[in-house]
Amino acid sequence: MASIVLKNVSKSFRESEIIKDINLNIEDGKCTVLVGPSGCGKSTILRLICGLEEASSGDILIGNQCVNDVPPAGRGLAIVFQSYALYPHMTVFENMAFALKVRKLKKDVIEERVLEAAKILKIEHLVDRKPKELSGGQRQRVAIGRAIVRNPYAFLFDEPLSNLDSGLRCQMRYELAKLKEQLQTTMVYVTHDQAEAMTLADKIVVMRDGVIEQEGSPLELYNSPVNTFVAKFIGSSEMNIIGVKFIKNNDDSSVFELPSREKVSLRLENGVKFSQSKKYQLGIRPEDIEIQSGNAVFMGNKLNGTVSLSENLGGEGYIHVTLTDGSALSIKAQKSISEQPGDSVCLGIKAHKCYLFDEQGRSIFGTYKEHPLSTDIAENAANL
Ligand SMILES: Nc1ncnc2c1ncn2[C@@H]1O[C@H](COP(=O)(O)OP(=O)(O)OP(=O)(O)O)[C@@H](O)[C@H]1O
Ligand SMILES: [Mg+2]
Repeated sequence: MASIVLKNVSKSFRESEIIKDINLNIEDGKCTVLVGPSGCGKSTILRLICGLEEASSGDILIGNQCVNDVPPAGRGLAIVFQSYALYPHMTVFENMAFALKVRKLKKDVIEERVLEAAKILKIEHLVDRKPKELSGGQRQRVAIGRAIVRNPYAFLFDEPLSNLDSGLRCQMRYELAKLKEQLQTTMVYVTHDQAEAMTLADKIVVMRDGVIEQEGSPLELYNSPVNTFVAKFIGSSEMNIIGVKFIKNNDDSSVFELPSREKVSLRLENGVKFSQSKKYQLGIRPEDIEIQSGNAVFMGNKLNGTVSLSENLGGEGYIHVTLTDGSALSIKAQKSISEQPGDSVCLGIKAHKCYLFDEQGRSIFGTYKEHPLSTDIAENAANL
């Protein structure tokens, strides 16, 4: 096990700077998950860490040792790629044993390590097969097994499950989570999958265009995103963001107007001053909106709209609603959905679940530990 530290690391390919002065602390024995849109530099970071690319500037430390001049083989890391990259002419056993043979370990040590890894991954019965005789999930296990036998300081995973169907993915995710507990080895894990990121990560690092936007525990990022980019990126269905105008302060709440001219009242705990000359953005997650057809009985903030699309997934679903000005909101429903396109609905907005951002998308509250909006809804509609 070892910590991995990136200090002011930059990487350019020809004249374009892909990684821009990144500082990152990957803690010993923990799982750090890198997420971000395609092309933001996640794989490049893994390649820099394991030495397949050389940084243009900055230092990379593994276990407090600067490894800038250490070739990949000397860094003691194991990388698992999305394409399993198994040797087709070798059996599962030979694939897993290969790196150990190169290191000239004794035959009985190699056998012991390979069979132990095969047992952990439940592929003992497959060790004599060739990769072409395996399913995708089994191949993926062999690729992970090949990494485990090397007993590395850290595992680097680059979207290891993205070739699998959703059922297998779920199963492998569960098994990786167990493996993480069992091995207690440092992991750096790149994924586009929210569920993988949220369940495997001790820390999630959200990247955009070669810089880190925010890092923190999964729930810190979910509860306290520093900007609209992170707010929309974290969460299995994107946060709704609507431009709002500040109207006025009441005694203990601030009133904002949506483009539909409807108003929401938010009670703030930390005395932030709003200005009528500035623009703001209101964020609300699909899971934090209540929906009711016909005559609504919500207290507090209500919005009226028309269902444009309903997606019924059985136990849950999504309802897409258009407000009177044409702006759209997505709502997650916890039960199967009866609303149909064209139905009028009333939406209840839970004030304490709302987020506020400035015009540039920065959270108005910066990085905060607790959600800044109070748990009360300003219930007296007459105040609006
Ligand atoms: N060897 C290279 N030469 C030139 N450009 C490169 C090279 N490797 C990567 N890039 C560029 O660097 C950027 C980041 O690539 P990278 O593979 O790190 O993205 P990523 O975040 O892993 O994306 P994805 O989610 O699609 O895998 C991309 O614009 C890519 O085209
Ligand atoms: Mg990649």
